[in-house]
Amino acid sequence: MQFTATCKLGLESTVAIQLKKLGIEPTETLDARVRFEGDYLTMARTLLWLRTAERLLMTVGTFTARSFDELFEKTKALDWKAYLKPSTRIHVNGKSAKSTLFSVSDCQSIVKKAIVENLKAAYRVDRIPETAEEVIVEIGILRDEVTLALDCCGAGLSRRGYRTYNVPAPLSETLGAGMVMLSKFYPDTPLIDPMCGSGTIPIEAAMIANHIAPSRNRSFAAEQWTFLPRSVFSRAREEAFDSERHETLCILGSDVDPHCIDLCKKHAKKAGVMLNWRVADVRDMTSDAKRGVILCNPPYGERLLDERQVKALYRTMRTVFDRFPGWEKSIITAMRDFETVYGKIADKRRKLSNGGMVCTVYRYFAEKRMFDGD
Ligand SMILES: C[S@@+](CC[C@H](N)C(=O)[O-])C[C@H]1O[C@@H](n2cnc3c(N)ncnc32)[C@H](O)[C@@H]1O
Repeated sequence: MQFTATCKLGLESTVAIQLKKLGIEPTETLDARVRFEGDYLTMARTLLWLRTAERLLMTVGTFTARSFDELFEKTKALDWKAYLKPSTRIHVNGKSAKSTLFSVSDCQSIVKKAIVENLKAAYRVDRIPETAEEVIVEIGILRDEVTLALDCCGAGLSRRGYRTYNVPAPLSETLGAGMVMLSKFYPDTPLIDPMCGSGTIPIEAAMIANHIAPSRNRSFAAEQWTFLPRSVFSRAREEAFDSERHETLCILGSDVDPHCIDLCKKHAKKAGVMLNWRVADVRDMTSDAKRGVILCNPPYGERLLDERQVKALYRTMRTVFDRFPGWEKSIITAMRDFETVYGKIADKRRKLSNGGMVCTVYRYFAEKRMFDGD
């Protein structure tokens, strides 16, 4: 079977790396998508383990279509009975880019009609009552090439289930994991997020360090599919729980807001990770370690602080972070002139889409001489 893991633009390489770690060779890496092949166990494992993917789609068919008639006939010709019951509730989502068929709403209703016609003929019934579980069919049209797929997830994969209380501007869990994966963080590396909000980055780092499958405590739409053996999910979960470690970690999340730290403690408990939390202003950041990783998602000047306050905060961050020359720093922000305000050109930049907003991760490498002097 063919699968597509969708992700935020800029995180494709992290998805490909995770697939390789699971022993799966990606077949194609495109903008915001990574394709691979596998069986149902592969599906269950990737649903549990992919930290930076937003969704997992299982391909039902691909074809070229330049007219609604073609879309209807080619959709109807696919073997929907293999996946859908006569009573399945069918919801169709869609996207189209650079294609003759650009009206997504028309494509959605045509695909739904074609699937219903196919099921009526296949099951020899007059109507599809749509009383059973919902299955989401995803249409993707790019340059007239249509892909029809089933959404394996239900809720997006960023919903791990541990972040139940919200702060005003949380980072998505997939982006938090992405920031950790783009840095030089290893399980025994000290890590500090000095503006941790609801705790996303430190919690994602702790799950990575302790080899915890991020989605082990949630369910997936595919678990309701009657055509696949249920055992694949229990087997993949069992493997995931067996591989967890419970090492003591050198990870600290701090925030100036005591309410945030209260939430972090609750979220970490739900996620099953033990780390350190502290109420502190970034200007009071301390560590005895000579090297480590600082990751942070400071306010952007849109929801939390005004522009003048944000610029002052970024200048403070520079002064404080300069006291940690042996530490790598990664800062994610949507502020366009960040490097000018912070006063230092980044060693590496990675543009990422964050809920419709373009953000950049600015990476400043650790000073080499600190490592040599250890
Ligand atoms: C964008 S939020 C971080 C969201 C976080 N990544 C999450 O996923 O929930 C920015 C955080 O910076 C904190 N903050 C603002 N000024 C600070 C300061 N001077 N020192 C420490 N934390 C600060 C805010 O309280 C807020 O929680």
